Amino acid sequence: MRILLTGAKGQLGQELQRALTKEDVITADRPDYELTDPKLGDKIASTRPYVVIHTAAYTDVDGCERDPDSAFQVNAQGTRRVAEGAAKAGAKLLYLSTDYVFDGRKTVPYTERDPVNPLNVYGRSKLAGEEETLKGYRGTLVLRTSWLYSVHGNNFVKTILSLAVTQPEVRVVEDQRGSPTYARHLAQVIAGLIRSDVTGVMHAGGEGECSRYEFAKAILQEAGLGCRVVPISTAESGRLARRPPYTALSTAFLHQHGLNLPPWREGVRQFLADRA
Ligand SMILES: NC(=O)c1ccc[n+]([C@@H]2O[C@H](COP(=O)([O-])OP(=O)(O)OC[C@H]3O[C@@H](n4cnc5c(N)ncnc54)[C@H](OP(=O)(O)O)[C@@H]3O)[C@@H](O)[C@H]2O)c1
Repeated sequence: MRILLTGAKGQLGQELQRALTKEDVITADRPDYELTDPKLGDKIASTRPYVVIHTAAYTDVDGCERDPDSAFQVNAQGTRRVAEGAAKAGAKLLYLSTDYVFDGRKTVPYTERDPVNPLNVYGRSKLAGEEETLKGYRGTLVLRTSWLYSVHGNNFVKTILSLAVTQPEVRVVEDQRGSPTYARHLAQVIAGLIRSDVTGVMHAGGEGECSRYEFAKAILQEAGLGCRVVPISTAESGRLARRPPYTALSTAFLHQHGLNLPPWREGVRQFLADRA
C-alpha cells in the first residue's frame, strides 16, 4: 500500500516509518514537501498515495503563541493543502491532532463528541486544521493524541531525564492532567487504522491519566534515578501559552475498533527499554 507520510523526521513520523516497513512509504519532508508551498497539494496528488498520514506541524506551543501567523500558515493552511492533495488523489487522509483543542474544564476523559474550545494559538491552529480536513471530504480520520514522547526528538520525558542527572531537584507542574502517549505505541495503532474505514474524529492516547508531576515521578522511578520532584503550579511555571488543566482522552471509541494503547506507565517502561 502506498502511503505518503508528512513529518517523517518528527517524533511520531520516525516511529511510523518503523511500524510501516512492509508498506511503500513516501517520506514527505522539507524542503521538497513544505507545508507553506502553494503547490504542495499537486505534489502530493502526483505521488498517487492510497493513504496520506499527516503528522507534520508547528508543534512548539509557546512558539505558536509568539508567531500566530506561522502557526496558522503551517497548521491550518498547510493542512488544507495536504487535504486537497489527498482528495485529488482519492486517498484516505489521517490527520494527527491534539488534546489542546479542549479547554480542560472537564474532570473525566474527553470523548470525541465533547465541545472544543482551545485556549492557545497552537490549539486553535490545529483545530482549524481539523476543520480543513473534515470540510467536504469524506475520507478523513482526525486522530487526536496527547502528551506525545518518543526516543526521537525532544520531549517531556527526555527533558526530565536530562535535568535529573544535572540538578538536585526538578520542578514540575501538578495542576495539568493528561494521558502520556508513547509514540511507538501510537504508531502501532495507526498501522492498524490505515486499513480500517473509520472516518471522523477519534481519540488515541496512553491508557489512564496522571498529572505532569506524577508523570515525572514515574519516569524517574522507572529509570532508577533518585532526583527529587517538586510540585509547582502552572502559574509558577511561567510559560507563555495557556495550558488546559485537564485533557485526558477517552479511548472507548478506539476500543470499539479493536485497537488500544497500553497503560501510560507501560509506555514509560517501553521507552526506557527501547532507548537503552
Ligand atoms: N508532541 C506532542 O506532545 C503532541 C501532542 C498531541 C498531538 N501532537 C500532534 O502529533 C503530530 C506529531 O507530533 P510530533 O511530536 O511527532 O512532531 P515533531 O516531532 O515536532 O515533528 C514535526 C514535524 O513537522 C515538520 N514540519 C514542521 N513545520 C513544517 C513545515 N512548514 N513544512 C513541512 N514540515 C514541517 C518537522 O520538520 P523539520 O524536522 O524539518 O522541522 C517535523 O518533521 C503533530 O501533528 C502534533 O500536532 C503532538
